[in-house]
Amino acid sequence: MNTNARYSKVAMLLHWVIAVAVIVNWRLAENFEHAEGADKFYWIGQHKALGIAILVLSLARLLWRFTKKPPELAAHLAGWEKALAKAIHVIFYVMLIGLPIGGWLASSFAGYGVDMWGMANLPALPVAKNEAMSEQIGETHGLIGKMMLILIVIHVLGALKHTVLDKDGNLFRMLPFGTPKA
Ligand code: HEM
Ligand code: HEM
Repeated sequence: MNTNARYSKVAMLLHWVIAVAVIVNWRLAENFEHAEGADKFYWIGQHKALGIAILVLSLARLLWRFTKKPPELAAHLAGWEKALAKAIHVIFYVMLIGLPIGGWLASSFAGYGVDMWGMANLPALPVAKNEAMSEQIGETHGLIGKMMLILIVIHVLGALKHTVLDKDGNLFRMLPFGTPKA
């Protein structure tokens, strides 16, 4: 049990690296959507590689979470606030794992693996080529990716509301400085 009001240093590092990577990956996907010709291949290649990196980091993060329990949510939060925060955290983990696997599956149905910036080549999953399936999964993947942005906005507004208005130091639970309230 972590009796501290703070997350561990490893949990903090993974939280912030993954947060930045998710935002960047959304921009890479948007660039792909709006590009033409060869540029499209460039942007989707970057999006796929960063997406798989997010998958690996998120699996490491979950593994870490199982071995090192995170702090309980602050005791002064209302019941509904705890429930909302917890629900969003669970959905985030499902998306951090599910979105990359869905994207990988969409690529696999189109016959492509993932080039990890020339360092490794992730093969396509063993599925028969099916363009219609690839498009359908790709579209659903993109839609869920955009829904994640709405959750990020709620998550950030919650953190800022508690830190700035309620002055309960919520943000410092995820930072190595400042004073969070238990
Ligand atoms: C952009 C993508 C982001 C994702 C996917 C994300 C995801 C998460 C997840 C899953 C947790 C729960 C950690 C756990 O219990 O294992 C968490 C906690 C937290 N996040 Fe984020 N986060 C993101 C961005 C941000 C940003 C921009 C902020 C700051 C404004 C922030 C502030 C926090 C804080 C303060 C906590 C601790 C909440 C508490 O325990 O009271 N997050 N985040
Ligand atoms: C957490 C990681 C990921 C996030 C947040 C994410 C998010 C998104 C978003 C928001 C779009 C839609 C862009 C738009 O329509 O404007 C998209 C499209 C796409 N993503 Fe991802 N993605 C992730 C990981 C991956 C991975 C790992 C792959 C493949 C290996 C992938 C493959 C694709 C493809 C092929 C599209 C284009 C789909 C289409 O337009 O038919 N994504 N992604």
